[in-house]
Amino acid sequence: MIPEETIEQIRQASDIVQVVGEYLRLKKRGRNFVGLCPFHTEKTPSFSVSPEKQIFYCFGCGKGGNVFSFLMEHEKMSFVEAVRLLARQANITIREEAGSDFRRQAMERLGYANQVALEYFQKTLGRSKYGAVLQKYLKGKRRITDTAIEHFALGLAAEDWDGLIRYAAGRDLTAEDLVKAGLALLSEKRGNYFDRFRQRLMIPIYNLSGKPIAFGGRTLKKGEPAKYVNSPETPLYVKGNVLYGLSHARDFIRETGAAIIVEGYFDVISLWQVGVKNVVASSGTSFTAQQARLLARFATDAYLFFDADSAGQNAALRSVDALYDAGLEVRVILTPKGEDPDTIALKYGSDKIDELIHEAIGFIPFRVRNTDVASAGIVGKEKLVKELASLGARIADPTRRSLFYAEAADVLGVDVQILHGGAPQVKAADEPATASRPKYDRCEFELVSLLFNGPGSIDTVFDTVAPDDFSSKELSRLYAAMVNQYRKLGAVDAGRMLDGVQDQDFASLLSEIVSTDWPADRVDVETARMLEQMRQRKQAGIRARLKEELIAATEAGDEERASRIQREIQGYGLDADKSQN
Ligand code: CTP
Ligand code: MN
Repeated sequence: MIPEETIEQIRQASDIVQVVGEYLRLKKRGRNFVGLCPFHTEKTPSFSVSPEKQIFYCFGCGKGGNVFSFLMEHEKMSFVEAVRLLARQANITIREEAGSDFRRQAMERLGYANQVALEYFQKTLGRSKYGAVLQKYLKGKRRITDTAIEHFALGLAAEDWDGLIRYAAGRDLTAEDLVKAGLALLSEKRGNYFDRFRQRLMIPIYNLSGKPIAFGGRTLKKGEPAKYVNSPETPLYVKGNVLYGLSHARDFIRETGAAIIVEGYFDVISLWQVGVKNVVASSGTSFTAQQARLLARFATDAYLFFDADSAGQNAALRSVDALYDAGLEVRVILTPKGEDPDTIALKYGSDKIDELIHEAIGFIPFRVRNTDVASAGIVGKEKLVKELASLGARIADPTRRSLFYAEAADVLGVDVQILHGGAPQVKAADEPATASRPKYDRCEFELVSLLFNGPGSIDTVFDTVAPDDFSSKELSRLYAAMVNQYRKLGAVDAGRMLDGVQDQDFASLLSEIVSTDWPADRVDVETARMLEQMRQRKQAGIRARLKEELIAATEAGDEERASRIQREIQGYGLDADKSQN
């Protein structure tokens, strides 16, 4: 629906380094930029972005693509959404061809439903009819300011059963759409639809691009058993991949290198209100590996700031594994008894918060804080040694790991060797993401990669090597696409080929091939060499087939046919130039 030329224009107007740089830290290395791969866990950067080729490729996990594929994969956008986003940034107006209807895209529709719901909840909160909720509860009891209400787009779900359903109908959304977005439910008994959220204060949850994808709804009723009702998971909202507040906090986190992790929505809001803005919420569950990696893209240090009660402190303990795995330095803020970040912020303001951050302790002292190590005895110490040894083993950086062990040994009063020895099987730093990748025939792989470097013999190659000559299905498919493109455009262009490629494996393969750097003066020589190898291989294949036929003919006693095949085999063996059929 979006014209091909427009897509091309948008891609050329976008810089992949800048776009990727929005989401992760990139460092210049040679002709490329490198960073920690957002698609798998790693501690040394193998994710590479090429400004010249305008592609990215991870040498660790093999993911790759162009600027559109990056946004699709990373932001879970559709191709059209990625194109639209970059078009907006590049100030390019998309004039669509007839028949386009953006609502056809299911993901966009889910996003649209959440956007409409956000509008509705905000409007409801603004109605004078519900002034008490705003004035008494939000501004009075919770002491949330108008600015914060606006910034976090807080809203209200009123008491009627189908307020959102009716409002959304006027915005071209069916009740069924709302059910898919987790915003409405179908009553089995009565067969009618009703709003999921009722009589609740609504807190929108955003993805990294700042689009609402879900809601948390806090009850306004005393004694209501469910304090929070949250959106269920949808294709757009995968809980373990989302951190509440990150889209608002990311720039502040990047600036300071530090991220404060709290438990609740209100902790984020209240801290923001007093000017502490590098804050995200784990939303009451322990950190997933994905969330920790997400954070590690912006932060180097994680400050756990949980409620003082034991549930809060246990949550702190449960989160550390994932944070260490992601390479984050973990510190713990000691929350005064009976308080939580929300109450501290509102009661004492930002000076108190700064002081608490300043006094935050490392994870090791935090862990042993309530233990009398000196009199813990051998059994008590053994448990701690094992626990800290295996936590230390998660630290990939050897210097940092040694320092961690030294501190643990010091705190526990044991020899540091015990800690090194106490570590169970040292966990591999990086996931074996490469294991599942198919290996390609070197010659085929290199030939295709050389063709992207414009060898003088490109026409000869396309004329003599057929897609069928490739042993790998993927390379054969890629090669066929190249031949097609060359015949159509007179050139092979990887960036363009990647447009609209929905198949991530294919995009990754293409990027891997294109990231192979060939010195310009080697391209022609190497192409000739690979072409010759392909030719020889093809001949060997034909010879093998003929030999089989020869055996069959001999066994059948067909002498004439046998000697004809014999002659053919000799021809292939001796006369190389007859290789083409
Ligand atoms: N939570 C949840 N469901 C619950 C309780 C908690 O999803 N039944 C999540 C919410 O994301 C909540 C977080 O856990 O924000 C922390 O819980 P809690 O401290 O109880 O909530 P607060 O947001 O701090 O709410 P309040 O300050 O109003 O008590
Ligand atoms: Mn709270």
